[in-house]
Amino acid sequence: MSESPEGGPGPRVIYLDHAATTPVRAEVREAMEAPLGSVFGNPSSAHQAGRAARSLVDEARDRLAAVLGCRAREVIFTGGGSEADNLALRGVAATRPGKGHLIVSAVEHEAVLETVRALQAQGFEVSELPVDARGLVDPIDLRDALREDTFLVSVMLANNEVGTIQPIRELVEVVRGNSAALFHTDATQALGKLSLKVEELGVDLLTVSAHKAYGPKGVGALFARHGVSLEAQVTGGGQERTRRSGTENVPGIVGLGVAAELAEREREAEMGRLRELSTALTEKILALVPDARPTGARPPLRLATFCTMAFPHVEGELLLLRLDRAGVCASAGSACASGSLAPSHVLLAMGLDPELAAGHLRLTMGRGTTPDEVERAAVIVAREVAALRQTPVVA
Ligand SMILES: Cc1ncc(COP(=O)(O)O)c(C=O)c1O
Repeated sequence: MSESPEGGPGPRVIYLDHAATTPVRAEVREAMEAPLGSVFGNPSSAHQAGRAARSLVDEARDRLAAVLGCRAREVIFTGGGSEADNLALRGVAATRPGKGHLIVSAVEHEAVLETVRALQAQGFEVSELPVDARGLVDPIDLRDALREDTFLVSVMLANNEVGTIQPIRELVEVVRGNSAALFHTDATQALGKLSLKVEELGVDLLTVSAHKAYGPKGVGALFARHGVSLEAQVTGGGQERTRRSGTENVPGIVGLGVAAELAEREREAEMGRLRELSTALTEKILALVPDARPTGARPPLRLATFCTMAFPHVEGELLLLRLDRAGVCASAGSACASGSLAPSHVLLAMGLDPELAAGHLRLTMGRGTTPDEVERAAVIVAREVAALRQTPVVA
């Protein structure tokens, strides 16, 4: 694979792994220059250097609050999506000394699933909601799972392996009609792709992460509705209104604010463009590999950036290696799951045969994706699948 002088992918490389991460856009890099340079003060310092940094953090908070349609004080900056998920789940659970019951979907990201497993080990009870073949949770299953002691429901807005969009508003209504439980949604994959207005969604807690929307890595945020009690998981100097201590990552926070604002501003036009490209990519691959099986939901119940399918009789990890060598950056499912040969919990929950799940490919588009890249990628995918099918797999 050709690499650019800075060590990044070269100009001929087709990057189709935007669900794993995205490049930091120029406007975001520019906005981050001041806090990486002259505006270096500690936002907690009362002097002018500190106040200058504080005002950058405040501005970023306002920008993100506008995207979420919430009050600035309801935004808690964190060290990414995983930390925001942990804060939501552990933070709420810590306020329930009497223990109790949580509900999550079977297709959540590990940041949610591993966290509820840890809570389970502490004595909390957890129910996992099944999904159908498209990856969708049934509101009736949620209603049936609610108990008197259910205090938190966490269902993601959009899935990171297949892009399925959950009916969050409907699920929230089921909770409101039957329980006093809080509702958290992991919207990490949805920033810039779906509206994240918290009033429309109806949620109490919502997670975002900058690096999935052309912002920097290692910074995210949790929306926590005013009045939701949450125990800090990082304690110390009391930053973020005591909900997340630690000197603020000012450049990262500034980057998140600008990235979120731009992503939201461009959302509708860009998603229209990418919807066409992902549909074209799916159709082209299917025309060349007719037995490929598209996975996940169909539009509009799927993020516009996702094209996912399983290839029978293909070892997905080998396909990824070959695609990489041919200049296509792709993934099997989640970035964290690749490299391990364990079948994806998401695909298994959707009822996919484990053998088919092993031949899964996720192609995710973004701002830089062009019709020409889509054309080339389809041909390369089809060629590499055909080549693998002719190569006997050594047991
Ligand atoms: C749905 C979902 N939740 C949480 C995360 C974790 O976010 P971060 O990488 O910012 O910790 C990811 C990242 O892959 C994700 O896709």
